[in-house]
Amino acid sequence: MNDIKQLKQKSLEQIRADILNTNICPDLAKTAKQIVFGDGNPDASVVFIGEAPGKREDEQGIPFVGASGKLLSEFLESIGIDRSQVYITNIVKYRPPDNRDPSDQEKQEFLPFLYAQLKTIEPSVVVTLGRHSTNCFLPDLQISNIHGQLTEVSIGGLVNMKLQIFPMYHPAVAIYNQNRRAELQEDFNKLRAILTN
Ligand code: URA
Repeated sequence: MNDIKQLKQKSLEQIRADILNTNICPDLAKTAKQIVFGDGNPDASVVFIGEAPGKREDEQGIPFVGASGKLLSEFLESIGIDRSQVYITNIVKYRPPDNRDPSDQEKQEFLPFLYAQLKTIEPSVVVTLGRHSTNCFLPDLQISNIHGQLTEVSIGGLVNMKLQIFPMYHPAVAIYNQNRRAELQEDFNKLRAILTN
């Protein structure tokens, strides 16, 4: 690992420790097996953000290792990217019981830590997977209208950063829906073009 990667890795480990030490979402922390913080390259040029861990992720402590994760890896491979090159995380870092949707409050509680992850990694593109993740950055917009479009978002306050957000459908919708799968593939192809420009 080069020096920058090592520094970024250390900073990410500190953010993970901060979540545990500040007792974020204690009810979720109690029902989940463990924190699912994030996985991949701490110096990645693309970060993928899902919604919350599911059963498999909760068991392994790694995001997107179940059925959606398998699809995500396949889409990445289809554009010549190995999963280890990117960074993958979720807004909410604990599995909600019975895979229910994360609440607005849970998303809000985790948001500063997600911002801290992004501030550390400094990716050129942030891919938000699904409406929960997308609406944290682009509130009130419909994913069906904005997927596959790169949009600059400014985060104010102490964080003070600009992000290039690229919304996509959540890979879970492509498991049984062939139309959505084709749309996701198109968006991945667009992402490849953005990254190679
Ligand atoms: N769905 C998500 O949004 N995140 C995961 O980690 C797994 C499935």
